[in-house]
Amino acid sequence: MAKKGRVFSGARPTGRQHLGNYLGAIKNYVGMQDEYDCVYCIVDVHALTTVETTQDLKLNTFEMALDWLAAGMSPEQSIIFVQSHVPEVMELHTYLSMVTQFGKLTDLPTFKEKVRQQPENINYGLVGYPVLMTADIVLYKTDVVPVGIDQAPHIEFAREIVRSFNYRYNTKVLIEPKVKHTEVLKVVGIDGKDKMGKSLNNHIELASTPEETTKRVREMVTDPARQRKTDPGNPDVCNVFTMHKIMSPQEEVDMINVECRRAGIGCVDCKLRFAANLNKNLEPFRAKRAELAAQESYVQDVLNDGGKRARVIAQQTMVEVREAMQLP
Ligand code: TRP
Repeated sequence: MAKKGRVFSGARPTGRQHLGNYLGAIKNYVGMQDEYDCVYCIVDVHALTTVETTQDLKLNTFEMALDWLAAGMSPEQSIIFVQSHVPEVMELHTYLSMVTQFGKLTDLPTFKEKVRQQPENINYGLVGYPVLMTADIVLYKTDVVPVGIDQAPHIEFAREIVRSFNYRYNTKVLIEPKVKHTEVLKVVGIDGKDKMGKSLNNHIELASTPEETTKRVREMVTDPARQRKTDPGNPDVCNVFTMHKIMSPQEEVDMINVECRRAGIGCVDCKLRFAANLNKNLEPFRAKRAELAAQESYVQDVLNDGGKRARVIAQQTMVEVREAMQLP
């Protein structure tokens, strides 16, 4: 079947993935594979803008790739690779940087946020982050980029860079990418407050054991107004209920929706039900992950092969780019 076009997305190597990563990104990546020709990249070079050492980079890349593959991202259907394996992206980044205004980069909200987060390390790479991201996208002649809402300004910026490049060199080699928002809902962490994330340690890892998962779920913050089991609760403000709606059978969701409001079910019971459903849903993922992890060098082979396939496309684009630029 003819595919609708090319999809590219990248994610920084953050190691083991959590429920927020799955519901917010991975699930979408998996879902787009039938319709689109997908290229998924672990952006280790982008990670260098924020890390102090590279000692965890290999392991984090490996663990993340393992989660991706176990979750159904398919190396047969898609290209799954590591950014630094395709050095052409660095070359394209340099060319694109010449058609990008410095002031616009430093005005971006994402850049300003990094300046606040790491005032002692405002490196040159951080300023060029969106230019490298643009190079990622356009190197593969991408039509659609599935990303979270926080990345939307970067895709808009990529479109601007493409227009500048094509205008300057009077060409059409680079394609303006369209954004597709992946987040259907914000996955809130176990604190019941902030978006789920590893840095806030409010996450639930996909690859944990059922016991660890249950322990984590038991720590989840519920309706803060419900102090005692005998108090009626309000599922509308409870993150556990939100998660039930995503993970649990409809009858159970309906039951909780009624029983919580009249104190017929307590928070502990409600959480244990969620943990059981979550563990059940994650069972096939965990089995597959263990199976893949047991095959020595499997993940590495997948990434190496993905890098080779990505590079073929990248090299072709670079031939066209250099020609359009009339480089000697
Ligand atoms: N900046 C993205 C993030 O932090 C990661 C990324 C790098 C990316 N290159 C990309 C996303 C290209 C989409 C397309 O999530």
